[in-house]
Amino acid sequence: MVVIVRFIARDGTISTVEAEDGARLLDVAQADGQPLEGTCEGDLACATCHVVIDPADFARLLPASEDEEDMLDLARDATRTSRLACQIRLTAALDGLTVRMPG
Ligand code: FES
Repeated sequence: MVVIVRFIARDGTISTVEAEDGARLLDVAQADGQPLEGTCEGDLACATCHVVIDPADFARLLPASEDEEDMLDLARDATRTSRLACQIRLTAALDGLTVRMPG
């Protein structure tokens, strides 16, 4: 089973990729060349994996943990639908997810 993810770059370029079920959104984005540093590699200590989820898709994600919310408070350009890509596992329920790189 593959999960389709659509990335929207800062310049509006759209990239559609196929991800393995269970893959981390951060890894999929980096493999696609999206500019997410992911400095702490998923330890919730950096927020360099900040992405903005399309509002139409946001409710399909499992809620963020308190630690993720705390780290998002420190992210630049955070929005109501911001998440940390290292905390998102792609599943069939997220097929078609649209993810924007923050400004
Ligand atoms: Fe550091 Fe996601 S990679 S918080």
